Amino acid sequence: MSFLLRSICFLFFVLNSLNTFASPTRHLCRPDQRDALLEFESEFEIRNLDTDAFFSFSYPKTKSWADKNDCCSWDGVTCDSESGQVVELDLSCSCFHGKLNPNSSLFKLQKLRVLNLANNDFESSTIPTQFNKLMELTRLNLSVSLLSGPIPTELLHLTKLVSLDLDSNSLSAEKSFLSKLSQNLTNLEELYLGLVDISSEIPQNISNLSSLKSLSLDDCNLFGKFPSSLLLIPTLQSINLNGNQDMEGSLPEFNGNNSLVFLDLSWTHLSGNIPDAINNLKHLHTLKLESCKFYGRIPSSLGNLTNLSILDLSDNSISGPIPISLGNLFHLTYLDLSFNRFDGQS
Ligand SMILES: *[C@@H]1O[C@H](CO)[C@@H](O)[C@H](O)[C@H]1NC(C)=O
Ligand SMILES: *[C@@H]1O[C@H](CO)[C@@H](O)[C@H](O)[C@H]1NC(C)=O
Ligand SMILES: *[C@@H]1O[C@H](CO)[C@@H](O)[C@H](O)[C@H]1NC(C)=O
Ligand SMILES: *[C@@H]1O[C@H](CO)[C@@H](O)[C@H](O)[C@H]1NC(C)=O
Ligand SMILES: *[C@@H]1O[C@H](CO)[C@@H](O)[C@H](O)[C@H]1NC(C)=O
Ligand SMILES: *[C@@H]1O[C@H](CO)[C@@H](O)[C@H](O)[C@H]1NC(C)=O
Ligand SMILES: *[C@@H]1O[C@H](CO)[C@@H](O)[C@H](O)[C@H]1NC(C)=O
Ligand SMILES: *[C@@H]1O[C@H](CO)[C@@H](O)[C@H](O)[C@H]1NC(C)=O
Repeated sequence: MSFLLRSICFLFFVLNSLNTFASPTRHLCRPDQRDALLEFESEFEIRNLDTDAFFSFSYPKTKSWADKNDCCSWDGVTCDSESGQVVELDLSCSCFHGKLNPNSSLFKLQKLRVLNLANNDFESSTIPTQFNKLMELTRLNLSVSLLSGPIPTELLHLTKLVSLDLDSNSLSAEKSFLSKLSQNLTNLEELYLGLVDISSEIPQNISNLSSLKSLSLDDCNLFGKFPSSLLLIPTLQSINLNGNQDMEGSLPEFNGNNSLVFLDLSWTHLSGNIPDAINNLKHLHTLKLESCKFYGRIPSSLGNLTNLSILDLSDNSISGPIPISLGNLFHLTYLDLSFNRFDGQS
């Protein structure tokens, strides 16, 4: 080996060693972050798995925290490798039992980008307005966690949110919530508000959420005219409006520029024809229009949606023959056309 090469190798060795000595301290969690985590955990009772059916899929992640010094290696905790700040906290299904209080130490973790507290029992707490201190949040998941009361509009200050999941709690929202949300949370790709009592129309300008991929507003007591342009957002892959029985409207003229895979408008008051242009939904896997007010014929173009796997048009007023083209739907695993007004030969 030449002298030059040896020198280079030596240099690498030195650099590497420095790195090895430096990294443990660099990655160790900061005392303030560690204290905040421990305080947060101590605000809750950790319920035993066996005694509570609600937690049957859960395991207490925080039980193992005491075993390790470096809070950045704790179960559910992710730190920024430079600053040592906690940036992700996933304590979903962690058997937490107790109130989520406004003075919670959670709100000291102000660099959090991802927070998942889903599937815990927050004993009908309201969502603290202090969530607006977590301005870096891109993903917030508080689904199925026994929260109640109004959703604080302070959540709409979190303009970096890409994903918001408040599904399946006992929450309500003020009437202008969706409109304000459409104005402020313009980066949203996922919005899950199933079972939130919104009791308003879907505002026209929800279509301003131009990055939306998934939208669940099932059983939200939505009423009035459904803005069908919502279904034309090119990025939208999944939409669930099931169970909003007083919501009226019809399907739009679909164009080739869409990504819909899952479309569930069941148990709404939507009506009119199923348009011929439905065959533009070329990625569609699930189409559920059960118990609506659709009439007219099934367009034979539906037979062109060869990826369709679930088709439920039951309990409408659809008439005419069942088109023979449906025989092309080779991937169909579920078909329900019952309770309609079909007649004639196909
Ligand atoms: C936080 O608030 C709760 C409920 O109001 C109270 O019981 C608790 O003592 C407070 N904790 C601290 C550290 O102030
Ligand atoms: C929220 O967390 C629950 C439990 O981990 C999970 O099932 C759900 O898919 C999450 N929601 C989102 C939008 O990721
Ligand atoms: C939108 O976000 C900004 C910045 O966080 C905030 O000042 C404003 O009040 C929010 N608007 C609404 C309607 O919540
Ligand atoms: C959305 O509509 C509401 C009322 O219809 C309006 O106040 C608001 O400014 C609109 N927002 C956007 C982003 O267009
Ligand atoms: C919302 O969408 C409407 C109609 O597409 C558009 O005129 C308006 O400028 C948009 N508003 C924002 C804030 O993007
Ligand atoms: C589909 O919509 C996107 C965004 O509006 C646009 O950039 C793109 O050109 C459209 N593609 C077609 C084929 O119309
Ligand atoms: C149909 O489904 C297959 C398998 O899931 C997928 O690879 C393909 O891209 C889908 N086709 C369309 C047009 O979405
Ligand atoms: C299916 O699509 C092809 C080509 O896009 C078209 O020629 C045909 O008429 C369509 N079939 C039906 C039943 O609409």
